[in-house]
Amino acid sequence: MTAILTPVLTAHWGEPDSFTLAGYERTGGYQGLRRALAMSPDDVIATVKASVLRGRGGAGFPTGVKWSFIPQGDGKPHYLTVNADESEPGTCKDVPLMMATPHTLIEGAIITCYAIRARHAFIYVRGEVLHAVRRLQFAVAEAYEAGYLGRNILGSGFDLDVVVHAGAGAYICGEESALLTSLEGYRGLPRNRPPFPAVEGLYACPTVINNVESISSVPSIMANGAEWFAGMGTEKSKGFGIFSLSGHVTKPGQYEAPLGITLRELLELAGGIRGGRRLKFWTPGGSSTPLLTDAHLDVPLDFESIGAAGSMLGTRALQIFDETTCVVRAALRWTEFYQHESCGKCTPCREGTYWLVRTIERIEQGKGTEEDLATVLDVGDNIIGRAFCALGDAVPVPISSAIKYFRDEIVQHQKEGGCPFDPAASTLWADR
Ligand SMILES: Cc1cc2nc3c(=O)[nH]c(=O)nc-3n(C[C@H](O)[C@H](O)[C@H](O)COP(=O)(O)O)c2cc1C
Ligand code: SF4
Repeated sequence: MTAILTPVLTAHWGEPDSFTLAGYERTGGYQGLRRALAMSPDDVIATVKASVLRGRGGAGFPTGVKWSFIPQGDGKPHYLTVNADESEPGTCKDVPLMMATPHTLIEGAIITCYAIRARHAFIYVRGEVLHAVRRLQFAVAEAYEAGYLGRNILGSGFDLDVVVHAGAGAYICGEESALLTSLEGYRGLPRNRPPFPAVEGLYACPTVINNVESISSVPSIMANGAEWFAGMGTEKSKGFGIFSLSGHVTKPGQYEAPLGITLRELLELAGGIRGGRRLKFWTPGGSSTPLLTDAHLDVPLDFESIGAAGSMLGTRALQIFDETTCVVRAALRWTEFYQHESCGKCTPCREGTYWLVRTIERIEQGKGTEEDLATVLDVGDNIIGRAFCALGDAVPVPISSAIKYFRDEIVQHQKEGGCPFDPAASTLWADR
């Protein structure tokens, strides 16, 4: 564990031309690709496997292992789909990455396609971030012009086309099977699995789906070697990652560090909680990861330790809330988000989100009863494991973890007949 930051992906974000091909090449860009093209595709997969890079989109599945599931010699087209939908509340690392150094993602996509023998890659970008779409389109055009994309890339005989696709703005389209459905031109609804995308993905062909940060981590692994990457992090959570601090923190922003850094260490780097106040609760990786409290400040931020503490590392979206925040109101906001974003395909999530919002609203207004608390937990239990996709499993997470740590505060709403917190005091940036 270390408090030292390890800027790799973020190393050049401050440079004015970091998003251009010239700026990227000046700082060593496309060296990883040259090295990969000198290897066999299988050796590239073996290198990424040896680095133990795990998916940065939330679930932490080993990236090299995922690539190795793509059948070879099947005579079908293979596809790479980069998941740039980034809609999880609190998650805000992929868009700045694509804005600052889009060529890192493009270089990573070329290496990935070479490894899985794909000739087409799609970057599925959240529709609202038009500026990121434009930036990527500009970078893709530069890469074609320079011979990094198109036919016979760098004289290797390898061909690749990259399409930047803008989604229409739905959280569910970040779920990998819904993303594929949306990319094919249909309404973004999740699909049954099996078959898994590695066997039947985009257009029913073998497809790898990886997060922006996962793919962007690949060029540095190829350039510096698997051991270099695996030398950072913890025993089972290797390498570096972007930790996005937001909320009631003095210096919110992106902190790139080895996995296993703690929130205490990150808060020290970020100037602590705003106004010298006390940390109340936080999410380790977005709203789909159970809340933790100030008792968890020293838990290493790696997949295993955060799991053992009862939460999930997720996307390392560290949303920080101080003592002025009503946990019921925060949980209500997140649940409203899930209700809004539920695609409606399955009953437990479609109906459950509706009833959860109504019941939490009542509790927040001080009109709730003990029975309402039991109802909330019961509705949650009836969604988890019964919903069609992982969005449903996330729905009860904010309120059930709030009840776990702050039951007294929730009961206080009922006793006082209203929320005991002053909403003005908890407004973000109130003291700025
Ligand atoms: C509702 C929902 C939304 C998701 N949104 C995203 C997203 O915006 N970006 C992302 O990379 N993964 C997202 N995921 C996870 C993807 O389904 C998938 O696991 C991920 O893209 C795999 O990439 P990785 O292996 O590189 O982490 C989401 C999952 C769910 C259930
Ligand atoms: S769990 Fe929710 S988002 Fe997922 S398929 Fe069912 S209704 Fe749609």
